[in-house]
This record gives sequence, structure tokens and C-alpha cells, in this order.
Amino acid sequence: MTTTAPASTSTVPGPDGALLVVDHVSHTYGSGERAHLAIRDLEFAVHPGEFVSIVGPSGAGKTTLLRTLAGLLQPSSGGVWVHGTRITGVPDDMAMVFQDYSRSLLPWLSVAKNVAFPLAGSARSKAERDEIVDESLEAVGLGGFGDRYPWQLSGGMQQRVAIARALAYRPTLMLMDEPFASVDAQTREGLEDLVLRIRDQYDMTILFVTHDIDESVYLADRVLVLSRSPAHVVEDLAIDLPSPRDQISTREHADFVHLRSRVARLVHGGEPD
Ligand SMILES: Nc1ncnc2c1ncn2[C@@H]1O[C@H](COP(=O)(O)OP(=O)(O)OP(=O)(O)O)[C@@H](O)[C@H]1O
Ligand SMILES: [Mg+2]
Repeated sequence: MTTTAPASTSTVPGPDGALLVVDHVSHTYGSGERAHLAIRDLEFAVHPGEFVSIVGPSGAGKTTLLRTLAGLLQPSSGGVWVHGTRITGVPDDMAMVFQDYSRSLLPWLSVAKNVAFPLAGSARSKAERDEIVDESLEAVGLGGFGDRYPWQLSGGMQQRVAIARALAYRPTLMLMDEPFASVDAQTREGLEDLVLRIRDQYDMTILFVTHDIDESVYLADRVLVLSRSPAHVVEDLAIDLPSPRDQISTREHADFVHLRSRVARLVHGGEPD
């Protein structure tokens, strides 16, 4: 990805040491009579290494939020700060993984070439690029699959290729927009644990949008619950569950059961218990 120049570092909003600061961000699509306010005055900060899940009703503005954080959309008001610098374009060390792997992978390129795609314009040597591709594929358990084509792989494997491609950016911050919505439940559990593993391995900060309330709690250190559109933060919930997480013992933990019910109530517009 290319970086657009920083604006100013003189008045950094948010708490000290935050990696990401979302400072009173609103976004309106269109203008005049067709104007649609998708997100409204969003405000939160994320610290280095945190895993933050974002949940909210369909159409709340979650994808709009992620696209704004990735510098793909300009906020209509407010600003996004990464590493103490207000962003005006796509930050270098940020990567995004989308729901629809079948559209995000290029079918005419091999798996290795798909993963190498973000490195195309970089100053790295071919040997360095090959090493990053091998390491990224290895990290998602697809070492040895580089010569295949995406359409020769299962849905879960294709999404792992998309994750490997994101890793090739060597991101500090990874944004994931419902990345596992199109795979079966068992594959999904494997991918959840994979994301937790690579987060530790690569020391990443992750923002993870999901519709699955159990998933949001299972993965995260914090869950941000958004309101109906135009989205604002209705609750910022700390998830103080033991780590490492485990698909069986974490999900049967009394705190997990309590937290998932609380998030579910908030998403459905009820009062927290
Ligand atoms: N390009 C666009 N132009 C106009 N309106 C848009 C555009 N993209 C999204 N919207 C509107 O903005 C609102 C928020 O959309 P967004 O896709 O961010 O929601 P979401 O929370 O990601 O939804 P979902 O859970 O279904 O993925 C919706 O009302 C949507 O119709
Ligand atoms: Mg969306």
C-alpha cells in the first residue's frame, strides 16, 4: 500500500500511547437530499496489541468505519490518528481482510503470486519477497500450496490465502471485516484460532468486525458495540477471559456466557444486564 503524507502531530487526541485514535468521526455518503449519515461522532482508541471486536446491527456502518480507518474513505468530520499522526491516505503498515475471499483473490494468479501482490511496488529484492511469501503462507498453514490456484482450494483455505496476503504487508494493524462469514462452523473455529496465533506471532493489533456475538467475545480483549445506523459506540466492553483462549473451555466459562448475553442484549437494542 502507499502512504499519504502525515498532516500534523502537534495535537494528538486520545490517550497517551494509543496506536489508533478515532476522534469524533462521522461519515456521510452523498450530498443534498441524497445525503446519508452512516456513522456519527464515533470516538474510541485502540492500544498496541489489543484485539478489538466490533459488533452492531446490519447496516449500522461497520464497513464504513473500517474503510474510514483504512484511509479508503475520508471522514466527513473528525479524524483518524495512527501512531500519533493524522492519516490522509492508506497507512503503510495497515492491512485489511474482507469477507468475500472469492472476490478479493485474483483467480488467474497462483496462491504465491496472490500473496506477493502487495509487495509488487516495494523496493525489496526478489529473494526477500519470496521469503515473505513463504513465511506468510507457512504462518497460515499453507506452506507448499504456493503453486496452486485459489479455485483449487476450499473456502477456508482461500480465506487463509487472503490472510497470508495481509501478512505480507507486515501490518502493525490488521482490519478484518466479517472475514469468516462464508465458511462452515468447524472451519470458522480453526480460522479464529489461526488469527489469535498469528496475532501473537506478528505482534499485531486487530480490529475485527463480526455478526457472530460468540465469536466477538471469544477472540477479543474488548468488544465495541455499535448502535443502529448512524453508528455510534453504545458500549465498550472489556473481555477479561483467561488466555490462551480455547474453543471448548473458554466458551463454557461462566464469564463468557455472561458476556455473550450482555453483548447480545446490547446488539438487539435491549438493556445490558
Ligand atoms: N457507497 C455507499 N453509498 C451510499 N450509502 C452507502 C454506501 N455504502 C454503505 N451505505 C449505507 O451506509 C449504511 C452503513 O453501511 P455499512 O456497509 O457500513 O454497514 P454495515 O454495518 O457494514 O452492514 P452489514 O452488517 O450488513 O455489513 C447503510 O445504510 C448503507 O446502505
Ligand atoms: Mg459490512
